[in-house]
Amino acid sequence: MAARHEQSDDDRDRPEHAGAEDRAGDPAAAREEPSEQPSPEANGHVDSPVVGAPPPAPAVIVGFPLVADGRLAALIDAMDGRDGLRVVRAPGRVNLIGDHTDYNDGFVLPLAIDRDCLLAWRPRRDERVVVRSLDLGGRVEVAADGSDELGTIEPQWGRFVVGALRALRARGHAGPGMEAAVSSTVPPGSGLSSSSAFAVAFVLAIGGGTGDELDRRELARAALQAEQLATGVPGGLMDQLASLFGAAGDALLVDCRTLDIDPVPLPQGLALLVVHSGLARTLAGSAYAERRAECEVIAARLGIPALRDARTDQVADDPRARHVVSENQRVLDTAAALRAGDVAALGPLLLASHASLRDDFEVSTPELDLLVDLLVEGGALGARLTGAGFGGCVVAIVQRNHADDLAAKTARRYQDATGLEPSAFVVRAVDGAGPVALGAR
Ligand code: GLA
Repeated sequence: MAARHEQSDDDRDRPEHAGAEDRAGDPAAAREEPSEQPSPEANGHVDSPVVGAPPPAPAVIVGFPLVADGRLAALIDAMDGRDGLRVVRAPGRVNLIGDHTDYNDGFVLPLAIDRDCLLAWRPRRDERVVVRSLDLGGRVEVAADGSDELGTIEPQWGRFVVGALRALRARGHAGPGMEAAVSSTVPPGSGLSSSSAFAVAFVLAIGGGTGDELDRRELARAALQAEQLATGVPGGLMDQLASLFGAAGDALLVDCRTLDIDPVPLPQGLALLVVHSGLARTLAGSAYAERRAECEVIAARLGIPALRDARTDQVADDPRARHVVSENQRVLDTAAALRAGDVAALGPLLLASHASLRDDFEVSTPELDLLVDLLVEGGALGARLTGAGFGGCVVAIVQRNHADDLAAKTARRYQDATGLEPSAFVVRAVDGAGPVALGAR
């Protein structure tokens, strides 16, 4: 188990997490999960107030240490100073409940988290886009019109850059050339949408840098298109919406048909603990596409636009559709419980969601199931896999003052049982993507 680290707002200046798998740079990894990718985190640098910095709260880290001041300074350094420099941040997300529902026009309840992608850039005159990644290494140089052949771009995270250029161009935003550097603290391949944070940061920057130039829903669609072009995985829109619409302290109830987004305040006394299984998700890309196709076939057979429209009695004998229909209801019930302060209702809803993803939708793994069991045995109110599944993370609702102990204990027991190296950390709900002020210095 990696070193455990208590984190507070002014204690985040830690070395960048090492050895994180390069999802953007690794084709298999890039396909693993539709929307996971590199990204940095909200930083507490005095000069760079992060839009919507999260409220102070205790946080637990086992592995994946966060980095604060050093990141922005490193980006400025990599860009040879502040002159004309602009910076955006785009957070990753954790999905509290509602998985494999977004592409069925259903409901989801994600939150933007205090792990993010920071992108620093300035215009270039020569219509070239040149990007360096501080975490993943390597440099990408492509044409600003997005005309490079996607399949030939190396390192592969560069395909997200070209995808973003094309997606923005298709929306009338032909950007100039730019010189850029990027750094991320969203653990790649974890189910926390590192790739969406990366793509959102780029569409924000190419689109003008404030997030106000284009409708944010359109920016989300552009980021999704960029990811689909880069990976070929037919992801839904949840991750990009969460990154763009995040609100400090809130989860977001998203209706994936209307794209209505309602903030749902998270309870003060509880914390969201994320535990990474340490499992690579090599099958997630193809299995995800398969699941999505299965859902579409069932909807067509039922003669409805999407499984969102199916009634419980219509899907009683079909496990995939049964998951989608029951999960939509659990999302609505969770949002209602949060609004009513009915904390006792939350755990059973999360556990039922996990069971449905495990048994009906079949996207869990024995390791994720074990983590859920260990967390609940250790005192979590509830826990479930989060994101596409097939590895990555589980999310648990825990008493805030118990999070530290539970993280350490769960990680230890999990490692003893599996030999895998887990990571655990508390996440906080932060505001969505936007510009970062550099300040004067
Ligand atoms: C991935 C996709 C999302 C969503 C989840 C599963 O994260 O990118 O669109 O489908 O899987 O809920």
